[in-house]
Amino acid sequence: MRIFEQLESRVRGYVRSFPTVFESSQGAIMTDESGRDYIDFFAGAGTLNYGHNNKQITQALIEYLQSNGVVHSLDMATSAKKRFLTKFLETILEPRNLDYKVQFTGPTGTNAVESAIKLARMIKGRSNIVAFTNAFHGLTMGALAITGNTFYRDEAHISRSNVSFLPYQNYLGKHLDSLLYFRKMLTDNSSGLDIPAAVIVETIQAEGGINVASPEWLRGLAQLCHEFDILLIIDDIQVGNGRTGDFFSFEEAGIKPDMVTLSKAIGGGLPLALLLFRQDLDQWKPGEHTGTFRGNNLAFVAATEALSYWDTMDLSNAVKHKSIVIKDAIQAIADKHPDMNAKVRGRGMIFGLEIPERGVAGQISERCFEKGLVIELSGAESQVVKFLPPLIIDEETLVKGISIVEEAVDEIMEEKLENLTMEM
Ligand SMILES: Cc1ncc(COP(=O)(O)O)c(C=O)c1O
Repeated sequence: MRIFEQLESRVRGYVRSFPTVFESSQGAIMTDESGRDYIDFFAGAGTLNYGHNNKQITQALIEYLQSNGVVHSLDMATSAKKRFLTKFLETILEPRNLDYKVQFTGPTGTNAVESAIKLARMIKGRSNIVAFTNAFHGLTMGALAITGNTFYRDEAHISRSNVSFLPYQNYLGKHLDSLLYFRKMLTDNSSGLDIPAAVIVETIQAEGGINVASPEWLRGLAQLCHEFDILLIIDDIQVGNGRTGDFFSFEEAGIKPDMVTLSKAIGGGLPLALLLFRQDLDQWKPGEHTGTFRGNNLAFVAATEALSYWDTMDLSNAVKHKSIVIKDAIQAIADKHPDMNAKVRGRGMIFGLEIPERGVAGQISERCFEKGLVIELSGAESQVVKFLPPLIIDEETLVKGISIVEEAVDEIMEEKLENLTMEM
């Protein structure tokens, strides 16, 4: 690990939680230089929905490279891009009756978010954007301004104005209706809220602690936006691409957002980000919002192959089945240790085990790693153990991974009890 400490900036993060050198990976397994296998419940923060080195995707990439397929093309037309757009239209948009235009932004999620809020402000001629408590939309300056966590915000020392944060569903407890509050703010001339150009929201706040919005809440939000001429942007970067069992996470709510940001798993493991918007919102001038890496042809090839998982309902059904397996198993861990006061939240194949006592979730993640499982944390205080396995994980590996978490929790809770007994 010496070269990383010597040369790589202190800003490096995940290497600290998972301190080994990974050499190869396949499906839901990562292998380090010593040959040790780890089950991956992190999946590149939602990038590896189709698994590491998915054989089908890898084969398509090898064939493309061997045929001298264009690798870099700015935003010129290429056969790889044509095949991706055609597949996306026929497999994803048309069957869902979604009449969106596709914008290729720079290759990471935050690039899609920047494009969305810039376009929304331009169209509406208003500067304000409404974001929600615990939101995470990326770390470039515009996206950072609509991200809640002070850990990321405080050090920026830049203006983070033109954004109003409102409470996400259940932020103030189950009995306080955050949409009623939003409506009041919009209708009261003295509320101090500038009518925003757009509202940006995650249907499940993944980084923010696995906070799940209900379909009713999302429909209410969409209705409010419609009533007050505000654009609704769904940030589906982490929980789109099948994570909830549907391709888009908002399908269950039956809403049609004005804009959708997609990244992470859309590229089948390679960098790719898209902004989708209603046809009439396509008000860019040619070349007005540009960027060198908007033509990642390798990602188009990988993405086209990945989309073939959506030719049938098989993946969707498998996610819905494994969702129950995960939920029941995590709930059993929480029930086994009532002293932990843990809460289980999630949908599809993203779940969180929230443990209020500070530091315990971190201990669990650390202990899991020692036992051969990569699992991350989320939430404002890193208080949530976040279950985010590849969607294609086989059930046996899934159950094995969860049993590692159970073992880690058992040990940590037992040690706490022992320490308590010794203190007394
Ligand atoms: C919902 C959401 N939006 C945006 C981003 C930013 O994506 P990226 O890190 O690729 O810039 C993330 C990353 O975790 C995310 O979860």
